[in-house]
Amino acid sequence: MNKQGITLWLTGLSGAGKTTIALQLEQKLKKLGLPVENLDGDQVRTHLTRGLGFSRKDRFTNIERVAYVAELLTRHGVIVLASLISPYREMRDYCRQLIPSFAEIYVKCPVEECIRRDVKGLYAKALKGEIPRFTGITDPYEEPLNPELTLNTAEESPEESAERVIDFLRKRGLLP
Ligand code: PPS
Ligand code: MG
Repeated sequence: MNKQGITLWLTGLSGAGKTTIALQLEQKLKKLGLPVENLDGDQVRTHLTRGLGFSRKDRFTNIERVAYVAELLTRHGVIVLASLISPYREMRDYCRQLIPSFAEIYVKCPVEECIRRDVKGLYAKALKGEIPRFTGITDPYEEPLNPELTLNTAEESPEESAERVIDFLRKRGLLP
């Protein structure tokens, strides 16, 4: 069994592909027999961080709670896939200093492409003013300055992106 955990922190706009890539990665890592846990913004907000909204303060609380769990799991040898918008550099830097083994993965996609995809119909609503503080529309997203990896999801498939993360883990010596 893999003894060394890591948190892969997938940051990016809503609809950029964080959840899809994390699910592909989860499957691939499980096939390799590695312990993996998925912490996804939409999911954690239904239990661990239920009741929080999207103000700057609530987003920080959301991230802090997920980082707390990610740190525990990482310390116990799990590969943690944390997929949250995490729009502020300060919050991602907080995670980096808290979690012993951490990689920031920028799931990069132009907002125009996210609007075109609009899988959940949230951009249409946000553009009509029906969702306040929507990231990329009426709320900020601070791009990573120095991520370990950038996945350009407008140019590569989720499968290709997931493979690039696997390569990254392999180079780090975290895969068999
Ligand atoms: S954050 O900023 O990191 O705390 O956000 P996160 O926990 O990842 O939650 C993002 C998901 O919440 C939905 N949603 C919104 N996103 C951004 N801004 C606003 N105002 C908003 N309201 C609801 C949306 O489904 C996000 O999921 P993803 O997977 O990112 O599309
Ligand atoms: Mg998602």
